[in-house]
Amino acid sequence: LNTVKHSLMVNLGANSYPIYIQAGVLEHLGLLVQQAGLGPNVLLVTNPTVGGYYLVPAQRSLEAAGLRVSVATVPDGEEYKSLEWASRLYDAALEARLDRRSPVVALGGGVIGDLAGFVAATYLRGVPLIQIPTTLLAQVDSSVGGKVAVNHPRGKNLIGAFHQPALVLIDPVLLRTLSQREYIAGMAEVIKYGVIWDGDFFAYLEEEIARALQLDTEVTTRVITRCCSIKAKIVEQDEREYGVRTLLNLGHTVGHAIEAITGYQAYRHGEAVAIGMVAAGLLAVELGWWEKSDCERLNQLLTRTGLPMTIPGVDPNRLLELMQHDKKVLDGTLRWVLPRKLGEAGVVSQLSDDLVLRSLRRIILDR
Ligand code: NAD
Ligand code: GLY
Repeated sequence: LNTVKHSLMVNLGANSYPIYIQAGVLEHLGLLVQQAGLGPNVLLVTNPTVGGYYLVPAQRSLEAAGLRVSVATVPDGEEYKSLEWASRLYDAALEARLDRRSPVVALGGGVIGDLAGFVAATYLRGVPLIQIPTTLLAQVDSSVGGKVAVNHPRGKNLIGAFHQPALVLIDPVLLRTLSQREYIAGMAEVIKYGVIWDGDFFAYLEEEIARALQLDTEVTTRVITRCCSIKAKIVEQDEREYGVRTLLNLGHTVGHAIEAITGYQAYRHGEAVAIGMVAAGLLAVELGWWEKSDCERLNQLLTRTGLPMTIPGVDPNRLLELMQHDKKVLDGTLRWVLPRKLGEAGVVSQLSDDLVLRSLRRIILDR
């Protein structure tokens, strides 16, 4: 165990936690849980796809540390991130005799992390959560920061909580079984961190994108560590998204509308965010916020990564309506996160419809 050292801390007072980022760290799960003083019972939540690869090593490591493991398997898919499945997991938690020191372990992508996290936040008014993210998106974004949720028929993530994990274990080797498409989609969120926060990291990605796409362990470990460290800093400053955490939504205003207009079928979240970042970049250039050459660098990196940058045959007015509706439901104003430099972004509201539509038309291709 002395060889496992945490890579980062998220400093949130009593809710602080370590993030371990290391090839092979999954093997140390049991010891890390024990070291954190958690147990003796554990509810491990996964899906058949991820479980097929990683359930045995995870369970073996927990049991070797003397923990009693119950496994709950949720079918694979966003549609199971529901109150109904949360309720089934409460039953599993009761059967597993989870008490307030017994952790829920989320082994999977963002869907499993959000669902198991929601259960951990609410069961017995909160039990410890351990995140073992297995997609790139989950490793650089959803497993850190404490947002947990289930979907409601009227919208994604409408029922949720802030519940920081007790421990995050990130093993970049697990990404080797992930499909290329999922991996590339996750890269959109990686590139986003460079744009909103860290110009040097953006330049590093420009240098190393080929090795990152080949899953070079050294590069992926470095990339994940940088993203988690940026996210940690942002969450430490603004846990509840009243301020700087909003910057993480770069590309998401248009991205969410693209996901909605295509019925959540055509694009992975990261792909829609990539198109949304292109739209935000064009808007920022129009407003005089951003240099055209930086906008071109972003578009080039997205292209080299293999991310989509345009969407065929949708009505820009409908897209705008969806964005306005989406935000009105929440707080009445449509706020845009726009880049100012590579490594800095800001928030602006009340952009004219004309201006927005002009940028939207540029990301829409005629069929
Ligand atoms: P996902 O969890 O559906 O995973 C994508 C696919 O990859 C699934 O089929 C999954 O079974 C498979 N998979 C996962 N890991 C694998 C591995 N190592 N090898 C092989 N296959 C693997 O999708 P996602 O993109 O990880 O997460 C999307 C969800 O995350 C959405 O529900 C979104 O709302 C949520 N999210 C939450 C936050 C947050 O801060 N809480 C942030 C961003 C997104
Ligand atoms: N995924 C955005 C956030 O965690 O705030």
